[in-house]
Amino acid sequence: MSNNDSDHSATDIITYIGVPLAVLGVLPILYNTVATLAALSKIKRMLRRAKLTALTRSDVVNKVIEVELPRYAVTPLDRFDEGTEYWQLSRQPSQIPGGSWTTFNWKTNTIGIKTQRVEYADQLRQPQVEVAFDELVSYLLDLGAVPEPHGWKLLRSTGLWTPMGSSLMSSPDGHKALTIGPLDDSDGHLSLAVNWSSTWTTRDSSSLPPYWVRLPPPPPKRPETANPAEASTSTDIEEPVETEDGKKKELLPKESLDSIQKQVQANSSTIITCQISVDGLVTALSQETDIMKASCNPHSLYIEHLRIRSGKADGVWFASAATAYGTTSQTVLWNYKIPDEILNFARRDTVPCGVLVLLGVVDEEDTPQWATAYNSGLEAHELFVRRNTEQRLAMAEEAKMAPAQRQAAAASRMQREMQYRLQDMRDKMRQDSQRREARQAEALQSPKWDTKLVAERQLKWLKQRQHMEESLVLKDAVGMLLHRMILDGQFTSSICKMLDLWKAWAENGGMRMSDYVALQDDPETFAQASLLAAMIKDTTTAHEGTLSMDLQECMRIWRTIRLG
Ligand SMILES: *[C@@H]1O[C@H](CO)[C@@H](O)[C@H](O)[C@H]1NC(C)=O
Ligand SMILES: *[C@@H]1O[C@H](CO)[C@@H](O)[C@H](O)[C@H]1NC(C)=O
Repeated sequence: MSNNDSDHSATDIITYIGVPLAVLGVLPILYNTVATLAALSKIKRMLRRAKLTALTRSDVVNKVIEVELPRYAVTPLDRFDEGTEYWQLSRQPSQIPGGSWTTFNWKTNTIGIKTQRVEYADQLRQPQVEVAFDELVSYLLDLGAVPEPHGWKLLRSTGLWTPMGSSLMSSPDGHKALTIGPLDDSDGHLSLAVNWSSTWTTRDSSSLPPYWVRLPPPPPKRPETANPAEASTSTDIEEPVETEDGKKKELLPKESLDSIQKQVQANSSTIITCQISVDGLVTALSQETDIMKASCNPHSLYIEHLRIRSGKADGVWFASAATAYGTTSQTVLWNYKIPDEILNFARRDTVPCGVLVLLGVVDEEDTPQWATAYNSGLEAHELFVRRNTEQRLAMAEEAKMAPAQRQAAAASRMQREMQYRLQDMRDKMRQDSQRREARQAEALQSPKWDTKLVAERQLKWLKQRQHMEESLVLKDAVGMLLHRMILDGQFTSSICKMLDLWKAWAENGGMRMSDYVALQDDPETFAQASLLAAMIKDTTTAHEGTLSMDLQECMRIWRTIRLG
């Protein structure tokens, strides 16, 4: 019994104490297993919903789940080739923190794997992507986002200390679109988050992309004078066609000639859109119909003569003038920074007003007194009176003489008078040329006029000489000059040479006689150059507006950012 009793109690002890103890010991393991598996399945569900393929491993003992996700570098899609997706939002944006970038469709490129260890599903984060800051901003601007001046100023001044959630760009109706993100996955990069709704997209493919300018064609009338370069091109092509005898051969070139002529004409009468990057002009497109229509195929134009090169300033002049031209319209954001030396040149008063008078651009009464005034009318009159008196006296003398003597005296008087006349004429010519030279020298020393004032007068002069439409304002005229610079290399070269000459005299103690002679040879090019210079001068004030400065500076500091 007692044995039985002790038996009983031994099993009892195992049953009532040991088993619960054992169960208690296993419970945490069981619990961990269940919790981990639950978290794992939740994570897997989240990943599936976000359309992410990830490697997951679970360690039930330590209650840890490892998730491996790729990290991407992304760039916006091509606006022209992938137009539909470019303007649409992604169909399955990820809701996982760090995945705000999946709002949009991107070109992606795997750049690494990020492994994270999490315990709970809500600790899961999607790796942020790397994206070029300027491309991101440009894409958002293209969709219709509006920069927040305060946010950019804050970012520029406080950098990574900018509080999370500060807004850099907002939707057209004022919602936060691009904000400062958490720093936990950014490895020292700037971390941003994005939020966009399809109803916020206010622009489309027909809008001008950021960093682009649209250059108007010259008015269609008088094509023969408006485009001399084209006229020469067409005659060049015509020659071989005329010398061709065979019928077949004649047909073919004629067709291509027509199409080339049409093309050239089409290029010069259509709007050109061009992209100005940090490195100046990078693309110029010609559009047949309304710009950027998905149906119309824009074609690239030849722009090698306008690329920025060392030793040749043509590209810099073009990029500066185009930037100035574009900045004064709707755009605040500019990639290209007009060099300080060009800005300084445009700001200074460098054209002596007397030179403009000599060139026939300005009336002398519109300028302050700069030349010595001669009363040549009075001088001529005085000389006339003197010669008359001499003649009268001589004739009075002759009247008193005997007839034979009188005749001789009269003859010698007439000879004398003839010599006087010749002498007077020579004197007058010498004096005129001396005065003309003195006047030119005085013109070079005359008060210098502001570039803007010069351009106003030059524009008026160009209109009077029918080089430009009567109704054009300075800005439109500059747009047309830039348009022509793209199509016409010779024109570009001569206008840039003129600007180089001008800048050189501005920097080296003022205009010289040789400069004046150059202007006299080509006053029209100088007039056109002055329009470009005035446009650049105009932009100085626009550039000091802080938003564009802050934007440029922030994008210079952080070239690549983390977005998520
Ligand atoms: C995006 O913006 C909308 C409107 O302000 C807001 O309701 C939504 O919560 C935002 N989404 C995120 C992920 O912040
Ligand atoms: C006009 O555009 C065509 C592209 O279709 C190009 O091949 C041609 O060179 C252009 N002509 C001029 C004068 O730029």
